[in-house]
Amino acid sequence: MTDAPHRTVTLTDDATGKKWTFPILDGSMGPSVIDTRKLYSGTDFFAHDPGFTSTSSCESKITFIDGDKGILLHRGYPIDELANKSDFLEVAQLLQTGELPNAAEKREWNKNITMHTMVHEQLIRFYSGFRRDAHPMAVMVGVVGALSAFYHDSIDINDARQREIASHRLIAKIPTLAAMAFKYSAGQPFVYPQNHLTYAENFLHMCFSVPAEPYKVNPVLAHAMNKIFILHADHEQNASTSTVRLASSSGANPFACIAAGIACLWGPAHGGANEAVLRMLMSIGSKDKIPEIVKRAKDKDDTFRLMGFGHRVYKNYDPRAKVMQQTCREVLDELGIKNDPLLETAMELERIALQDDYFIQKKLYPNVDFYSGIILRAMGFPMSMFTVLFAVARTAGWVAHWQEQLNDPERKIGRPRQLYTGATTRAFVPVEQRE
Ligand code: CMC
Repeated sequence: MTDAPHRTVTLTDDATGKKWTFPILDGSMGPSVIDTRKLYSGTDFFAHDPGFTSTSSCESKITFIDGDKGILLHRGYPIDELANKSDFLEVAQLLQTGELPNAAEKREWNKNITMHTMVHEQLIRFYSGFRRDAHPMAVMVGVVGALSAFYHDSIDINDARQREIASHRLIAKIPTLAAMAFKYSAGQPFVYPQNHLTYAENFLHMCFSVPAEPYKVNPVLAHAMNKIFILHADHEQNASTSTVRLASSSGANPFACIAAGIACLWGPAHGGANEAVLRMLMSIGSKDKIPEIVKRAKDKDDTFRLMGFGHRVYKNYDPRAKVMQQTCREVLDELGIKNDPLLETAMELERIALQDDYFIQKKLYPNVDFYSGIILRAMGFPMSMFTVLFAVARTAGWVAHWQEQLNDPERKIGRPRQLYTGATTRAFVPVEQRE
């Protein structure tokens, strides 16, 4: 917070004329906030904000979004610059430490991560407990939570060194666990990590290599994977990150907190949207069906929404979607896919929606998930893996927020209140006297 001149707002109860004053706190960028921490103790009122549309839940220095202008900054650096000039592990380090590393710091960080890429051999047995057709997100929720049963030396949240090791372990092991979930569903043997490869290359290698064939990572696909990971690395206080923070506020161990984040990410309104977009594009089939689907999306009586469109914060083009669209072209060109019907449908759908009054007035633009599924499918990932890849990348952000929260001297257990509208006090009636 800045030391700007002290401003306040005054709240008046119109019925009694009582007045209360609250301080305004200024951030370094973005809207200021009204500090309502003393609202209840001072006034006897709660603030009522379901969905937290107007509520700042914490102070953070990690990520800044200006939704009206379509700006996303990590530690001050624009997302497109990071996606085009950096690598995922460097972005993960930036999110954690606040600064881009020098060459020695970068080497040290990469070493710390890569020394943790393998998972405990016994953890591998968990996978055979799942059905082969289990959704890999279900597997991820289970195995990431299970890490807390294996790494007892990094679950003491009051020990800074243990917190650091847990952070390294989570960032290092999540691609290994994700690739194993993929291999398990395909009925193929697990592939161990290769520490001489980059984060993105290693992930592709663990997913697509098989013992019977030599496998060379395609540099264009590795480059695209790196970008996709960077674009998903963090996004301020979104639902899954807030879930991680809320879980952590009770003092839960890091592996349990990240498992909670994965569970939240799975929903179609959040990380599950990339899978839902592809299902939608496939169901549209041909371009002439687009007007019908747009009509359904606008219909108040229809629960259908245009997946990959709209965002709680962005009221402009999602800056991640722009990079994603360009990456989509690079991947399809590399793979020699000339006229991908899904890409054509997506582009036509975007064109029609962006000219439609409904979408213009509600400021609904394509979000990060709109093009990612097309790329991932072309790379060979099944739809069920799309959200898993999101979880791999977002672990970097979750861990950074988890650390930031634990270092916050104002940390308190998250405990929202409610507007109670249920029955008022009544006496218990024995069953034989009930009508
Ligand atoms: N298609 C049709 N109408 C929409 C859409 C859409 N995709 N998104 C929002 N609207 C309408 C909505 O019906 C509402 O209309 P009205 O004001 O008449 O009731 C208005 O726009 C505002 O929507 P909202 O649901 O109040 O906004 P929200 O901030 O609560 O929801 C959202 C944001 C992302 C959940 C929503 O836009 C949505 O469901 N989009 C589709 C799912 C999706 O693509 N999710 C990925 C989000 S980006 C990645 C991530 O965060 O994981």
